Parts: sequence; structure tokens; C-alpha cells
Amino acid sequence: MAVRQTELRPLGKSVGRKEDPRFIRGKGRYIDDIVLPGMLYMCLVRSPYAHARIKSIDTSEAMQAPGVKLVITGEDLAAMNLAWMPTMANDQQMVLATGKVLYQYQEVAAVIAETREQAVDAAQLVYVDYEPLPVVVDPFKALEPDAPILREDREQKSNLIFHWEAGDKEATEELFRNAPVVVKQDVRFPRVHPSPLEPCGCIADYNTATGKLTWYVTSQAPHAHRTVLSLVSGLPEHQIRVISPDVGGGFGNKVPVYPGYVCAVVASLKLGRPVKWIETRTENTTSTGFARDYHMTAEIAAEEDGRVLALRVKTIADHGAFDAAADPSKFPAGLFSIVTGSYDFKEAFVEVDGVYTNKAPGGVAYRCSFRVTEAAYLIERVMDVLARRVGVDPAELRKRNFIRKEQFPYKSPTGWTYDSGDYEKTLALALEKIGYEELRKEQAEKRARGELMGIGISTFTEVVGAGPSHTFDIMGIKMFDSAQIRVHPTGKVIARLGVRHQGQGHETTFAQIIAQELGLSTDDVIVEEGDTDTAPYGLGTYASRSTPTAGGAAALCARRIREKAKKIAAHLLEVGEEDVVFDGVAFSAKGLASRTVTMKDIAFAAYTNVPEGMEPGLEATYYYDPPNLTFPHGAYIAVVDIDKGTGAVKVRRFLAVDDCGTVINPMIVEGQVHGGLTEGFAIAFMQDIPFDEDGNCLATNWMDYLVPTALDTPKWETDRTVTPSPHHPIGAKGVGESPNVGSPAAFVNAVVDALAPLGVEHIDMPIYPWKVWKILREHGVTE
Ligand code: CDP
Repeated sequence: MAVRQTELRPLGKSVGRKEDPRFIRGKGRYIDDIVLPGMLYMCLVRSPYAHARIKSIDTSEAMQAPGVKLVITGEDLAAMNLAWMPTMANDQQMVLATGKVLYQYQEVAAVIAETREQAVDAAQLVYVDYEPLPVVVDPFKALEPDAPILREDREQKSNLIFHWEAGDKEATEELFRNAPVVVKQDVRFPRVHPSPLEPCGCIADYNTATGKLTWYVTSQAPHAHRTVLSLVSGLPEHQIRVISPDVGGGFGNKVPVYPGYVCAVVASLKLGRPVKWIETRTENTTSTGFARDYHMTAEIAAEEDGRVLALRVKTIADHGAFDAAADPSKFPAGLFSIVTGSYDFKEAFVEVDGVYTNKAPGGVAYRCSFRVTEAAYLIERVMDVLARRVGVDPAELRKRNFIRKEQFPYKSPTGWTYDSGDYEKTLALALEKIGYEELRKEQAEKRARGELMGIGISTFTEVVGAGPSHTFDIMGIKMFDSAQIRVHPTGKVIARLGVRHQGQGHETTFAQIIAQELGLSTDDVIVEEGDTDTAPYGLGTYASRSTPTAGGAAALCARRIREKAKKIAAHLLEVGEEDVVFDGVAFSAKGLASRTVTMKDIAFAAYTNVPEGMEPGLEATYYYDPPNLTFPHGAYIAVVDIDKGTGAVKVRRFLAVDDCGTVINPMIVEGQVHGGLTEGFAIAFMQDIPFDEDGNCLATNWMDYLVPTALDTPKWETDRTVTPSPHHPIGAKGVGESPNVGSPAAFVNAVVDALAPLGVEHIDMPIYPWKVWKILREHGVTE
């Protein structure tokens, strides 16, 4: 049950979401709700080919079409030195194609007209003469010596983007040489898409009189986008205002800068009128940042009793035509080296090869800290392979290998320092709550009757809160985050943060943190994000970084206010500052509990009656550069039954026990977990973006790329343990991505467990019924 927003000491309470009244009444203000006077509309012309030389583009007929104001091609942009733009992974990407196209649906021209319909109609009249070229869709073939070189602009002799390693190769090899047990498994994490309900879009509004560009955009990182736009366009940064209005889901899809954004800005600069561009669903699915697409091979060296020694991983990462992942520069494969997970490996060695193919660019962190999802899935899957090989129950195998509570802060063999955790406690709670022993008994009985029931466990470790600026940056911009708090004379507060939520509830949770620190209620605090002219600089919301970074900034900023408030309280109470105590609601004189002043009294005094010599007012800004990442963890258990006739998998139960340190708002955390589990379910059972040999994308909209509904998903059961982060100001860790990161392995492990009596050791996602049905048929289980 939600509690009232007027409650004092709100931290840790399920305060009702402040943002919901506007969302559930249709009063949200999303990008396509914004209509500016004189606004034009843009439509992009896209390539039907995955790889083709552009021989010519004829725009003359489109230019004559009703309402058309401008048609832009790559050549036009080249004349302005804007044909290419940097990606957030330090690659470069064509804005509009020049010379050739590299993937189906690539942006080739932009048509701007008075109405959206006119722009769409005129886009059909742009004639492009293509000469098809050989297509490379398979990343393994892309690495063969005779593969066509896709990126002629890079002047390189292969399609390899990068080779990246972590860990100690020699020490790992040594342990493998002498290990009694070695297991090996190929695992693919399919190409999936974040698919926010609201696709990407923007309005560029250049004011020819003031020279100021206001850019409304569905952005997860407005400040970073402002800086990138300034660098790309040459416009001075203070003359760019980025406004990210309500955002209808992001999940990593709204971190990159897309060609449509740049084209809309160019069009507005040229025409001096606002230009709106809103993608269609198909454009979103086919051309904006996809996620995952990792082909991984993992080997574990272990003792006979299943105690792990070393981990070796080789990965081919299909990045598509441009490396447009938003990875920190030190980490071309994101935080994939967290792949040793919750287990105390002595050594590990991880290699990742990034590869160009004729597919749309991406590799974005879909509800994920830069490839942690791939890592968590891999290790949780392969631990099950090991359990089966050594004949140890998967829960027991995990317990034998957990990093123990007393080992924290724990240094992993690939260089991470885990802040805190209690894996045994979390798993013990999950096993007890799901009734693990009884389920195993039931499974044994069912197996004896030939029925297929499976139990899958995932005890994952997460890595969130990018990041500490000593290690993390995006395009050279150091990562940290910020908060600014202004207390008005009546004790009401406006707080602005450098992050930008897309539905996660920051307007409530960050108000809770601030209210808790200042002795106010959530109702007293308005949280504003997403306007670069008003919010302090920050790197945005993705990778569950908001709570670890901006949440820390909010707490420390409020404490800065409280320090000053204490001085004013001393003045009002007529005692020395050292004699003032704060009990979370009011300030009082030590030993004189009856003499109190509240933050409201203090706020009024800050503008009317400050001690002599003190600067009036009550506001502060805090840039918080966290000392480390935070490492949430969880124990998830899935129980499935498989229909032998159809291969359909029914998830009978799913329990998620999460540990994200101090919880700000349990109801919001539970909502985050439900949402992420739903996505994890879809990834495990429903989603993939395949391509045919010619590079045609075969999942172009939600008829082919399936999005789950409440009808598909089981009833989620949740619980939690609390292991605070020792370095975060309120002990909180991020949570948003945990369920997406941790759940796919639990689902797949459960299905493989159900099919284990048939000798099945692995099935790649998505586990479509036909895949299971084929296995059942091959084993003579079904006709
Ligand atoms: O960066 P993002 O907001 O996507 O992820 P997050 O920091 O994990 O937060 C997601 C939501 O859960 C926010 O509203 C957080 O403040 C809330 N949360 C919480 O109430 N307690 C935590 N320990 C972590 C997150």
C-alpha cells in the first residue's frame, strides 16, 4: 500500500508516485504532444538494401511536391562538413549516406514539409539509384580474410572494430592445464531491441534572431546530447537548450544520437522554423540502437566437487555497421568483464572481438550497465552446465562458490572491487520462500511419470552506478552526477538533477531522499529533470546509475543545506551551533526538546533573519563523483512446466529476491522489478531480430518482434535482502536493470533443467515453442 506524500521521514516508505496523476490522466507531455507555431515535419528516406553503392539521388520531383520546403542528402551535409557524426563509442557514423549504404533502413535523405503527410508522400519521390554490393550478416564470416571490407572510411583491412581483453591470460591457462574438470559451452545472447513504447523523436527550433537553438528531444542524457550537438554542429553550447520532456520509456534506446536528430537541427538552421521528426515503430525497431548480439564461448576449470578455479571467455560482438554503443572509452566491451559474477574464481581471462556487419548500428545497454546482462547470463548459464557435469545440485554448486560476506570489499580477477553483498543470505531466502526442496521432490515424481518440469536458478551480481570519474567517461566527458536544491522562504523546495527519468519515479524517490535529509515531506519537494538551461550538468539516466550517482548527489546536496540550516537554527534558538540537534523532523536545543524550529521556520529566516554576516538564501549545488560503482545482487528462481505436445513452456512461478542496498521506495522498487522481469521473460521466450542472407531485417515491427503483455507473463513474486553500499551516502545501490540482467538465465536454466533427462545441456534464446518441440521430437518424446 502506498503511503501519503505528506508523511515525514519518508525514506524507505512506499510513498505514492508524484508523477502518476499526470500520467494516468493523459496529461503527460511527450515530444509528439508539443506543437510549435510554424512547425514543419520531417520524414527520412531509407535504404531498401543492406549494402549498396549509391550511384545517384534525384530529389527534383520531391522538391516539387506539395508543401515541401527542403530535401537534404548526404552530399548537402558533406558540404557543411556534417555528413558524418561521432558515435558515443568513439566511432563515426554517417548522418545521411554518402557513397554507399551499409544496412537496410539506413538514412539516405530527409524531406521537410508543411505537414507530416506531405513529408511522407514526398519521401516516396526521392529516387535513389543503388548498385547492390555483397552483404555480410554473419559476424564470424565478417572476420574471414576474404570478407568484403564494409567500412571503407576506416582504411582498415578487416571488419574487426576492436579486440579487448581483461584478466590474466597466463595464470588462467595454468589453472586450466591442471584442472580436474573443464566444461565448455557456446552461448548466444540474441539481438534484441529496447523498444520503448514511445519511439525516438525531436523538435529542433532555431531562433534566427537570438541564434539560440532549442532542441526538444526524447533524451536519456540531455546534457551529454547538448555537448555532442555543440561539438558536431559548431553551435556554441550556451546557445543550445536541450529539453527532454516526459519520456515514454528509454531502456538505453534514447542514449545515442541518431541521424534524424542531426537532420532536424540542420533543417531548422536552414529554414529558421521549428522542425519535428518522430519515428515510426518500424523505424525505431530497424534503425535505432539494438542491444546484445553476443556470441560467447565460456569455459570453466573446476575441482571435481564443482569448486571453480578459472574462467575463460571468448566473444564475438556484432555491432552492425557503426559502433554506436554508448560505452565508456576504457571499456569497448562495456562492463562485460564482470562475467565472473558472484563466484570466487581464482583467475579469469576474457576476450571480446567487436565486428562490423551489414546491420543497423548499436550495441546499446538495454536496461543494462554496458554489457553486464550478457555477462550475467553467460556465467549463470555456464554454472548450471558445470553443476550438471559434476552432479551437484545447482543451488548447492552456487553456495560452494559464492564470494563470502566477509570477503567484501572483494577484488575480482578482472579488476572490479565489489562493494558489499551477502549472496548466501539472498539465496537462502529465495530457496526457502519458493519451497525448493519440495519442488525438487515434485520434479522427481513428475520425471518418473515422464512429465517435464524444470527449476532454474540465477544468483547474479550486478555492477551499476557509472560512474566514478577516475574510470568512467562518455566521449571523454567524465561521469558523475549532480543535484541543485533551492529552498523557498516558505520551506517548499525545488530540486534539479542532472539525470533524466523515463518513468522510473525520480520525482518521488529523489524527493524522498531530500525530504528525509531536511525534515520535510515528499509533498514539499518538487524534482525537475531534463532541461539543460536549468539543471546542473549530468550524464543522464541509464545503466541504473541515477540512484548511485544523482541519488548520492541529492543526499549530499541536502546535507549541505542542512549545515547552513543548523547555523540559522542556532541563531533562532539562541544557542551555539554545537548545541543544536536534528532528529529528522526538527532542530532543537540540546537538552531542551521543547525549544524547536523546523526547516520551514529556518527557510523563512534564511530570507528574513539570518545571523549577522551570513549570506542570505538557502540553496546548494552538489556534484557527486562516486568513489566506486555499486554491486547489487539477486537470487531468482523460475519453475516451468513444458507441454510435451506443443513444446510450449509455462512459467508456473517466478521469485525474485533482490538486494539493492538501502531501499528508498519499496513500491517503486517492486515496480522496477516487475517491469524488468517482463522484459527478461520476453528476451528468454519471444524476441530476436534475425536477418536473411541479403541483410533484410526480419523483425521490423511488433507483429514480428513480440512485446509481452500481462497475459503472457506469470505472477511475479518478489522479496528482498538489504546489504547497504558502504560508500553510497544513503547506502543505496541501483535496481532498475537487475531484473532484466538476472532473469533470462533463470528462465533458460529452468527449461534446460526440464529437458535435462533427454540429455539437453543448453538451448539458445529465444526459447520458442517450436525449438522445444523439435527437441522433444528428436528424442521421441512427441510424435
Ligand atoms: O537510473 P535509473 O533511475 O533507471 O535506475 P535506479 O537508480 O535503479 O532507480 C530506479 C528507481 O528505483 C528510481 O526511482 C530509484 O530512486 C528507485 N530506487 C529505490 O527506491 N531504491 C533503491 N535502492 C534503488 C532505486
